[in-house]
Formats: sequence, C-alpha cells, structure tokens
Amino acid sequence: MTQHSAGATAAFSVADLTLEEKASLTSGGSFWSTKSVARAGIPEVLLADGPHGLRLQAGSEDNLGLAESLPATCYPPAVGLGSSWDVDLVHAVGAALGAEASIAGVGVVLGPGINIKRSALCGRNFEYFSEDPVVSGALGAASVRGIQSQGVGASVKHFAANNKEDDRLRSSSEVAERPLREIYLRPFHRVVVDAEPWTVMCSYNRINGLYASENPWLLTQVLRDDWGFGGVVVSDWGAVNDRVAGLAAGMDLEMPATGGHTDAEIVAAVRGGFVDESILDRTADRLLELVRKVQAGAGSAAGPFDVKAHHDIARDAAARSIVLLKNDDRMLPLAPNASVAVIGPFAQTPRFQGGGSSKTNPTRMDNAIDAIREHAGESGATFAAGFLVEDDDTDRDAELRAEAVSLAASKDVAVVFLGLTDADESEGYDRTHIDLSSKQLQLLDAVLAVNPRTIVVLSNGSVVALPFKDRVPAIVEAWLLGQAGGSAIADVLYGVVNPSAKLAETIPLRLQDSPAYLDFDVDNGLIRYSEGLFVGYRWYDARGLDVAYPFGHGLSYTSFEYGQPVAAVTASGDVDVRVTVTNTGERTGREVVQVYTSLPGSSVQRPPRELKAFAIAEISPGSSHEFVMTVRRADLAYWNAAAQRWIVEGGEYVFEVGASSRDIRSSIPFALDGDSFEPAITRESTLAEALAHPTAGPALRSVLAMEEAPGGPSMGGADQIAGIMGDFPLGRFARIAGESLKPEVLDPIIDSTRAG
Ligand code: BGC
Repeated sequence: MTQHSAGATAAFSVADLTLEEKASLTSGGSFWSTKSVARAGIPEVLLADGPHGLRLQAGSEDNLGLAESLPATCYPPAVGLGSSWDVDLVHAVGAALGAEASIAGVGVVLGPGINIKRSALCGRNFEYFSEDPVVSGALGAASVRGIQSQGVGASVKHFAANNKEDDRLRSSSEVAERPLREIYLRPFHRVVVDAEPWTVMCSYNRINGLYASENPWLLTQVLRDDWGFGGVVVSDWGAVNDRVAGLAAGMDLEMPATGGHTDAEIVAAVRGGFVDESILDRTADRLLELVRKVQAGAGSAAGPFDVKAHHDIARDAAARSIVLLKNDDRMLPLAPNASVAVIGPFAQTPRFQGGGSSKTNPTRMDNAIDAIREHAGESGATFAAGFLVEDDDTDRDAELRAEAVSLAASKDVAVVFLGLTDADESEGYDRTHIDLSSKQLQLLDAVLAVNPRTIVVLSNGSVVALPFKDRVPAIVEAWLLGQAGGSAIADVLYGVVNPSAKLAETIPLRLQDSPAYLDFDVDNGLIRYSEGLFVGYRWYDARGLDVAYPFGHGLSYTSFEYGQPVAAVTASGDVDVRVTVTNTGERTGREVVQVYTSLPGSSVQRPPRELKAFAIAEISPGSSHEFVMTVRRADLAYWNAAAQRWIVEGGEYVFEVGASSRDIRSSIPFALDGDSFEPAITRESTLAEALAHPTAGPALRSVLAMEEAPGGPSMGGADQIAGIMGDFPLGRFARIAGESLKPEVLDPIIDSTRAG
C-alpha cells in the first residue's frame, strides 16, 4: 500500500523526468494505483471506489464488485442522499467516507457519480442523485467538498452523457449541444467550479460519435478551457480506446494498468512526431500535482475510524433519505403499542446497496424487523416473509403468502416490505421494465384484503410503478439506504425522525409515459436523446401528463405554510429569493423549499418550469424560518449553439416557489435584464434579421435607399420589398438586388457585425 509521509511534499518536477518516465505516469501501475518513479522519488497514488463507501480490495482485484473488500461503512447510495436535498448532510457523509479513505492510505475516492437519471431503466440509477442538473450539481459539489476536506481527492464521474448501462463501452450518446450543455454537463460544471475536484473520471461511451476518453471538445475545450478545471482526468476502468488520441484530447491517466503497453505507444508517438512532447509534459505536470496533493493530504484523518460513530452518520443520513409518499388518515407514525405484522424478506435481509463497482463490505448491518421491535417490543412485531426474493417456487410462495395474510389479519397494522432484487438492478445492465414482481403485488393485494391498515415500505434503487398507490393508505419510499437503513426505516415509521426527504426523480404512472421511452435502447450503436431538454419533470410538465408522484414531492408528519416570496438581484447579478415558512403542525420538521423559473415568450424552446435553487431548514412547531435561495444568473442562461455561447435572455420571468414541482405555493413575476447579444449577420441570415440588426440594419437601409421617413418608418419602396422578401437569406437576396448589394458592398456590412 502507498505510504505518504504526512503533510510532506517532495520537490519533483516534469523537467527532471525522461520521456519514458513521463509516459509511465499516464497509466496505472496496478488495478488500483498509479506508477511510482523511484529514481525521482515519486510515489504511487492509491485509488478506490466510491461513491457510498470505501471499496478497498486487499486480495483479488476487480471493478465489478465481485471480490471481497475490506470492511467499511456503507452510507446510503446516491438515490437516497439525492432525496435528502441536503447539502450539509451529503458533505458530512463525504467527510466520513474521506476519513475512512485517508486512514486506509487511499489518495483518491472514485465518486461521486452525478450522471442525470434520463430513464428509470438505467441499471445504475441508484448511484446517481437526480433527474435534475441543479440537484445533481449541488449535491455532487457537497460530496466532493466533504471527501476532499479529509485531504483525499474525489473523482466526479462519469463524464459525460453516460445514462445507461447496456453497451456502455461502445454506444454513442447522440445528444444535441443544447441539452448536452444545459442538462447533462451542467452538474459537472457546478461541481468543477464550486468544489474543484482533484480528478474527473471520463465515461466509457462515445458522445456524438467520439469516445469520451478521446474527446478534445469535452476534456479540453469544455472542461479545462471553459470551466477552468486544473486537475487530472482519469479514465473509467477500461474506457481507453486510442491512448495517443486520448492523451492529445486531455485524458491524463489510463486505468487500470496496461502492462506499460500504452505508455510505449505514447513514447513512440512523441518520438515519431505525432504528438508534441509539450502535451505529454502538461499531462505529467497534472499527474505530479495530484501526487503532491495526495502527499500533502496524507494522514489528515487518524485511525482507526470510530465504527459506531460512522454507523450513526449512516443512520442519520438514511433516515433523512426516506421519502414519505403517502400518509392518509395519519397512518404514520405508528403508535408503539400497536401490534404490527412485518411482512416481506427485505425487512429481515435488507437490500441496502446495488451491484457493481460501488459494492461495499459493511461494518454492521441493521435490519428493520429488529429495529421495529426496539419500538414495538419483542412481542409487538411479528415477522412473516410472504414471498421468496430470488427463487420462483410457486407452491412455497403460496404457503408464505397464506402465512403472511393470516398474520396481517390478526394485527392492528401490516407493514409490507416490497422492492427490487439484486438481480433487477445493477451496474453493467439496464432494467427492461419498472414493475415489482407479480408475486409481491399479489401478496400486497391479499394482505390489503384482510387488513386495510397496510403500509408499504419500498426498497429499490430506482423508481418502480405503484399500481396500488390509491389502495394503500401509506407508502414509504425507502430506496437503498446503506448499512443502517433498517434502523432508519423504524425511526421514520415510529416518528423518532420526522421524514423530510423529497423525490429527486419523478415516479411515473407508466414507463410508456416517460421521456426516453422510445429512445432508451441502443439502436445500431446509437442512443438518440430525442427528448432533448425535456428530461424528468420537464417532460411530464410540458406534456401535461399525470404522474404517480411528482419531482420534489415528499410528506412530513407536520405541515408548513408558505408566506409570499420576494426576489431581488444581488450585487453579483444572481437573484435571491426569500420566503418565510411556518411550521403549522405539532412536530419539529425539516422542509425543502424549491424555486422554479420559466420565461413565457422566450425566443427559444424552454420547459414549463426548471428548478434553479432550493434550501432545507428545520423548523419547530409554531416557528417560522426565512429561506434564502440564490438563483444563479448563470443557471438562467440557455446555450445558443449557433453563437456558441450562453445567453441570459432579458424579460419577465416567472419565479415559482413550491413544496414540489406540482405543489407551487406562489409565483411572482420577475423582470430581468438580458445579456447584450447581437448575433453576427451572415449570408444565411434572413433579410429581416439583417434589417433588425443595430449596425447592419441602417447600413443596408442606406444602400438600398430604405431610410426611414422623418415621421416614422417608410412604408414605400424597399420596405415593401423587405416585407415580401424578408425570409430571403441575405446572400440570395443580394444576387437579386444586383449592383446595390454587390460583394464589395455587402461583405463589409457583414464583417462589421462580427466585431464584439
Ligand atoms: C465503473 C466506475 C468505477 C470503476 C472502478 C467502472 O466499472 O464504471 O464507476 O469507479 O469501474 O471500479
């Protein structure tokens, strides 16, 4: 294992290294480490997964979660943490994970994952936060800051447009630049700018035909030149296709080890004059800077870590990740003296994480049935499995169902644990449907028939259809919650914790309603992002579709009343939205307040509402809290692909403040000045566009003798022509106009519009 002396940084520099030594830095020395250069005193750096617990392998090594790793705390996966909407909580989890990594001698943690949940079918959704870029970016930045607060680097992944698992090593995400920038890259931008991750992990897939690992537009132009990223780009494990092209594109570190073969390719490319050595020098420089950071941070956390204290962090985080979807007649919280039938194998053997590279080996494991008994007493809660999780033995399932039903009939309340299995969702493959197994639905119906006081608790890493939602009085979305999930569920069921989480992804009524339904599959190597900007709630709102539960939804055991919001532009040009919220119920509770914006009459296509800011605070009964949420001006900008720049349109925006995307409590108009932007005129611009241009317009009028009459615009002559021929591209109009718009006249007019 790597040894770095605490806090010391050695003085090594690229100038001291041979060509071969520099090239040797650009690929792994083993499955999990970089190469050392002993002669120059450069140590190796150890990397380990990530993102919701440390996966450090001491024996055989793999990136599939197959071989055992050392015990580490399993915190809630991102599907849970995303629902917390709580940046402080995510920071705290990151810091605890970072401390475990630091103690283990790990230099870089491979996480967080911040890809957008484009479809509920993505097998890896449990590792991602949200369908929304602001939630993903804000929580991703908090996670990175937390990890890096411990002197350990984070690796924000998977950059970019990696939104499905099937065929991820070859497929090309075909996505127009505007949604690519506004939806899929935006969270990465926020993380890079706000949290300065030490590394970014490029994804396996191609983007519009070109592999992420050899994409100069992505890895250099956008990431480094536009966003100012100064760290290392590391490949996903096995993502490199052409090593030399990758180097030239800005891909610094190939992982895992390739036996030095690709280092030799780099040496040959430099010697052969195919790549300038300065490009290798820049990469080597960045890699040495990473080594220095790791050295400087080494020993930040003293070990061994406090297993109980970290378990408690995991428990707190899990409880704050649980979404109370429905709670009719105040079914919840449960009274400790109610007799409870606890049904379903997940109550005894929790599903707490997903399969693949993020799979940790937890230090402890809480299960819900034991935790429920701590509240209800040993005899107050009785367990029945009700069904077999993985096996399909119809007779045995029928026996288990009959047992569970008779138990449910004899108790005050039935709590039925349903969910997805390990086989249903994992890294490496996608789901084909969003349904719970029919035997689970059958069991629930049978239990409901004998006991209407039935509560459903869900264990799933990505949304499932809820065909029973109108028939059961209470539904608890408990996702995958890490090693303390069992206790956290009991904490929420018994009201020790008042639920505060809200959905960071829409639960649709049917898969067929969802945005990527027709274009999720890889078709001849291509994944067409045909829904464009309309991802998640942006789609359901634009189409006016009913959903099972909307983005941002989540109930509490208390109630909140929202005051009238006010908005004001700050000195930096952002907009602060303030709203006072009062806890009108009887329990202390935490509320997540959301700010959505829209611009009616925008000159470009826009979703009906887009989340731009949110905040969370705890409020005691009868008290009020003023939430201040900053809408970043940059987040109001749209990407103008023709002009290749971000533009904030001026106009009368609508700012909506709500408890969910479909529970808007008030909306206020807000006038905002736009960016000064005059697109350059070209021969492809229409005559009407050219005439409307502030400098080209008057110049054209003058050469075409279209000056305005003193009392107002002239209606005669050339203006009439403009009315009729306004749609003509300028170049073609010029041909018809002949001498008056010959190239010597038109070209300078066009050129003048390019300045500034
Ligand atoms: C995953 C990454 C992971 C890496 C190393 C890859 O298969 O996509 O998220 O960090 O393996 O385990």
